[in-house]
Amino acid sequence: MEKREELYAGKAKSVYKTDDPDRVIMVFRNDTSAFDGKRIEQLDRKGMVNNKFNAFIMGKLQAAGIPTHFEKLLSDNEVLVKKMDMIPVECVVRNLAAGSLVRRLGVQEGLELNPPTFELFLKNDALGDPMVNESHVQSFGWATTEQLARMKELTFKINAVLKELFASGNMLLVDFKVEFGLFKGEVILGDEFSPDGCRLWDKDTREKLDKDRFRQNLGNVVESYEIVGNRLGLTF
Ligand code: TMP
Ligand code: ASP
Repeated sequence: MEKREELYAGKAKSVYKTDDPDRVIMVFRNDTSAFDGKRIEQLDRKGMVNNKFNAFIMGKLQAAGIPTHFEKLLSDNEVLVKKMDMIPVECVVRNLAAGSLVRRLGVQEGLELNPPTFELFLKNDALGDPMVNESHVQSFGWATTEQLARMKELTFKINAVLKELFASGNMLLVDFKVEFGLFKGEVILGDEFSPDGCRLWDKDTREKLDKDRFRQNLGNVVESYEIVGNRLGLTF
């Protein structure tokens, strides 16, 4: 597999072409961003930790029957994935209230959401990733009715699989964001799943173990990501 020119660089990852038109290489950098890219810092080891963490989670999801873009780990910071046409919408499921939901609706952080909520956000940093609804997704042509239904179904399935996985490490999956794309016409999971894009709390103490440590200046950001991995049996 030959790594060719950079296709694009996001806030925390870069994507490179390969000699295979159907495969690209994703590089996890140490850049850590918050507030739609308004704050970016380098955190030592973060690229490596998230790359390995993501590979582990993608493997679990794949084993549970969720189609993903993951192909194989190439190095500490690189992964080979299927080249997809990304759907520019973020799918968020919440099991407990936190973050923007608390700000938007004035509810208590930690409030249990039963059934879990499903929200959509447009991927657009300049606009601050505005919340959109299912009608917007269809009217603007970001996804068809069928694709959207599949995204929603897969997102809830991911929630069921990962809630149980994190519970096995005595953690609560508070919420998470996933992104999908199309590969040969099929909706598959893309991007990454790591503590950068979800909220995880210790079940007993409710200590935050995710990117809120960075957003809220709590310190030990990457150390906490490693603890999350360690609790699932991963070593870095
Ligand atoms: P929020 O509370 O800021 O709306 O975020 C909900 C969850 O989704 C949280 O785990 C962070 C994640 N998320 C991202 O990683 N990137 C995003 O652009 C958005 C909107 C959410
Ligand atoms: N909106 C997300 C956050 O606040 C993504 C980002 O801007 O990095 O972390």
